[in-house]
Amino acid sequence: MDDIYLDVGTNWLKSKVSDDFTTDTHLYIENIISSMSFGGGLRILDMCCGYGRVSIPLSKRGHFVVGFDVSETLLKSAESAKRKELLNNVMFVRADMLKLPFREKTFDIVLCMWASFNFVAHIEDQLNVINELAAILLPGGVAIIDLPNEHSSSEKLLTLDVSGSVYHYFQHTKRHLEHVLSSSLADSYKIEECMFGAKDRIIVVISKNV
Ligand SMILES: C[S@@+](CC[C@H](N)C(=O)[O-])C[C@H]1O[C@@H](n2cnc3c(N)ncnc32)[C@H](O)[C@@H]1O
Repeated sequence: MDDIYLDVGTNWLKSKVSDDFTTDTHLYIENIISSMSFGGGLRILDMCCGYGRVSIPLSKRGHFVVGFDVSETLLKSAESAKRKELLNNVMFVRADMLKLPFREKTFDIVLCMWASFNFVAHIEDQLNVINELAAILLPGGVAIIDLPNEHSSSEKLLTLDVSGSVYHYFQHTKRHLEHVLSSSLADSYKIEECMFGAKDRIIVVISKNV
């Protein structure tokens, strides 16, 4: 898979996100963490971690974080943030979410934040990713998928151009997500609508039975 950030760089992605959006993203995750009856650091997977916007603060709070992404450019930025903060409880690896390289029952929390799931173009792959993600959760674990809520009446596959790199982006609807999740292997799930900063979001929360 191509690194669409190779030319535009990490700063391009950073310029697309507001502090309010990131603050509300962290508040949402912290609420989930505090509702779980775990003591101590959690094992967290940050799928499509980008430059570590979510992984770095979570590792600073004492959790054990694995972040993966397909973009070498963004992973280099995540690594340099890790070095700058002298963190040894976060690791970044290159991987493709369509071929998750993790064992079953490995993580307490799996995160897929800020539209990363929109990069999964085909419905069969969306179902596979959700099934894989449910499989790598430990009993009692929770996965969160955060997507833009376009309030559109129908889901659609868009072709976007980032500085000459063309990629597919699946615009989700609550109804479509309900359809995919209802045929998934997830033990249980809920689909919520909320705001992160000024942005409307759809949040999928998948829970694994204890
Ligand atoms: C909008 S960014 C979000 C980054 C990060 N999750 C965050 O919240 O800051 C989308 C990310 O998905 C990554 N991505 C897209 N397709 C991917 C794939 N198949 N496997 C792994 N990462 C992917 C991109 O490289 C990019 O880092």
